[in-house]
Amino acid sequence: MQPQKEKRKRKYVPHKAAASFEPTYDWSKEEAKQKYETQKFPFDVERIFYSDCIKGMKTIPEKSIDMVLADPPFGLDFSGKEAIYNRDSNNVIEGYEEVDIEDYSNFTNEWIGELPRIMKRDAGVWIFSGWTNLKDVLYALDKHKLEIINHIIWKYQFGVFTKRKFVTSHYHILFAVKDKKSYFFNKFEHYPQDVWLINRKYMPNTKKNATKLPVDVVMRCIDFGSEPGDLVLDPFMGNGTTAVAAKCSFRHYLGFEINDVLKEIIDWNLKQVKLGELYQPYIQRPDEIVQNAKEKFQKSDSSRTKLTDYLK
Ligand SMILES: C[S@@+](CC[C@H](N)C(=O)[O-])C[C@H]1O[C@@H](n2cnc3c(N)ncnc32)[C@H](O)[C@@H]1O
Repeated sequence: MQPQKEKRKRKYVPHKAAASFEPTYDWSKEEAKQKYETQKFPFDVERIFYSDCIKGMKTIPEKSIDMVLADPPFGLDFSGKEAIYNRDSNNVIEGYEEVDIEDYSNFTNEWIGELPRIMKRDAGVWIFSGWTNLKDVLYALDKHKLEIINHIIWKYQFGVFTKRKFVTSHYHILFAVKDKKSYFFNKFEHYPQDVWLINRKYMPNTKKNATKLPVDVVMRCIDFGSEPGDLVLDPFMGNGTTAVAAKCSFRHYLGFEINDVLKEIIDWNLKQVKLGELYQPYIQRPDEIVQNAKEKFQKSDSSRTKLTDYLK
């Protein structure tokens, strides 16, 4: 006969745990600003070098980077000037340096090979990749002993029209770390899933290189993968999206872009935003599950001192 199952001590109430969810780390805006201002580096930060990142990364001192975000060239037959997605090609500037498909695995192996030395022990790397070259990225991560923690699918709303195959409307984002036992991850959502639905913004009349990521997707990586004051490296700056996201969220940045045509655009994009302007303590931006659960379960629990009160 089966032993009688031990009765649950407390009844499971769906979503109740979400009501008391608090981010692993959180900072008020003043604290975030202070962390940013007091962080010291033995080299200049807030700099973008217009040179090859593989050579450039060799000059970065070891264990000095808190987070890497990389959106490398695709290795496709793509000049970056195509008027895809209904874009007006007059607004899509020259300035996308592609890598030949035959060289792609060597190229990937070389730039990923520079990361372990310059990353701090608890640092993580977030790599964007299309499906066609994903194998090269996975192989290089493995070869250089960077361990994959998550394989995120970023789903966006439109891709290039096709006739005899599905329209590609997703990207892969690989989150990998140096040390699986000790890496930084700020769980600021109760139930963060590995499929992200973030739309690409249609930006008519804006000068850009054709591969610009939405700030929202970059910001999401920065939010989970770093804290205010941290140094974020982007080896492939493109339009400077990572630098913009870092500036808006009190993170420092460093980057490379091989094509100096993009300097004007990066400088302009950075000038449009103020330091810390998108920063908001995580407790003040609960996801839908947490928001609903808090409304439902916390009405009767007003006596508890909450992190929310502390951060006001
Ligand atoms: C996919 S785009 C990055 C787009 C960027 N994430 C954004 O939101 O604008 C890749 C960029 O890497 C640059 N690039 C290609 N090879 C490079 C290298 N060896 N070193 C530095 N940059 C390089 C390209 O010129 C291109 O601007």
